[in-house]
Amino acid sequence: MHTVSADSEFLERVLAAGAILVNIGDIDILLEQILTEARFFTNADAGSIYTVEGNVLSFCHSQNETIISRGERIPYTRFTIPINKSSMAGYVACTSEILNIDDVRKIPEEAPYSFDDSYDRIACYRTRSTLTLPLTNNRHVVVGVLQLINAKADQREFIPFHNSMEPLAKYYATLGALALERAMMTRTLLMRMVNMTEMRDPKETGPHVNRVGSYSVIIYDSWAKANGIDEKDRVHNRDILRMAAMLHDVGKTGISDIILKKPGNLTADERKLMEKHCSIGAEVLRNCESAFDEMARDIALNHHENWDGSGYPAGLKGKKIPFMARIAAIADVFDALSSQRAYKDPWPDNKVTEEMEKLFIGKFDPDLKVHLISQLDALREIKESYPEQ
Ligand code: C2E
Ligand code: SIN
Ligand code: SIN
Ligand code: FE
Ligand code: FE
Repeated sequence: MHTVSADSEFLERVLAAGAILVNIGDIDILLEQILTEARFFTNADAGSIYTVEGNVLSFCHSQNETIISRGERIPYTRFTIPINKSSMAGYVACTSEILNIDDVRKIPEEAPYSFDDSYDRIACYRTRSTLTLPLTNNRHVVVGVLQLINAKADQREFIPFHNSMEPLAKYYATLGALALERAMMTRTLLMRMVNMTEMRDPKETGPHVNRVGSYSVIIYDSWAKANGIDEKDRVHNRDILRMAAMLHDVGKTGISDIILKKPGNLTADERKLMEKHCSIGAEVLRNCESAFDEMARDIALNHHENWDGSGYPAGLKGKKIPFMARIAAIADVFDALSSQRAYKDPWPDNKVTEEMEKLFIGKFDPDLKVHLISQLDALREIKESYPEQ
């Protein structure tokens, strides 16, 4: 591919990328997509995105084509850097300026920032050019930093980012920041809704729902890639699934503390009451207006249905169970087994895997088995990132 500079094709790509961002509601999906689209229109090999959390920048998502093409996973790191001028990302967060560096190993001594090559060393990667952009909202507050790494002339050669693309890239970063603010508010509202559900047990609930949301997305995406679902639909479904799966147990609002927090096994009567959380959840979400509402209701109502018809509340069987509920069911049980509950201790990884495999006979959709088993490493990384509090 030829060098990308700001021609009309570039303008078209930036506009198309911006249009995608405004339709995303979930923060994790949005952060990934801000990065994916920006790498596409700048032809960048890699990139990272940071969000401002208090007085630090939190490194939250990174992508790297070279590492992926080696068949490796991107090393999982979550770290923070101080917001000061000593790093490139920190400098951009402090000053709201774009930083376009042709070669990070030739940054002049007198520059306030320097390049930290620790990530390169962990990843066995060589950063050369970087384009670092502030994600600034319309009140001029920096909410994050987008760093694009290694513009490509062709598949092999890394070149500088052409400076003619800076103004449009900055415009794109502003769109990204606005979408990010909205997504942060949505996540906050969802978490408040979930926390109300289990106010008596917020420690268990917050991380649990985030994990179930993320696990569901990973299983879905593995299935969707294998089934040739196009990228646009995948992004949309990941987005609404991430949020809808968080609400799977929203019906526990209607269940008494005594049952919810019971340390031991439930009696048959208590179990009957507990099982009502599915229909209560569907009731809470009853006015289905959007694709998100519909998916959230499908999941809340059907996440305890079993493939063989032995589940509740309706005893639906096989493909009669909405697809996303079949996915959320797997994510929910995986999380229940691997975590602490009022009524159980966490199981070791190998026991969880063994039990899950068994449950694909009868309980879960057998076609989804490969999409759980192949993603176990990814699920366990997610688990690390949402620890019990
Ligand atoms: P949860 O804790 O989020 O568990 C979700 C699902 O994970 C359970 O749905 C079940 O399918 C699976 N699961 C949890 N622990 C085990 C286990 O040790 N072995 C296996 N094979 N599967 C397990 P289920 O059974 O319909 O329960 C729904 C909810 O009811 C649970 O959500 C939990 O809040 C409550 N619950 C279930 N059993 C008990 C219990 O013995 N004591 C108490 N206090 N609550 C329970
Ligand atoms: C920075 O922007 O200086 C921190 C990240 C990196 O070194 O690539
Ligand atoms: C994803 O963003 O695609 C899954 C990981 C997450 O939601 O944190
Ligand atoms: Fe449930
Ligand atoms: Fe659950």
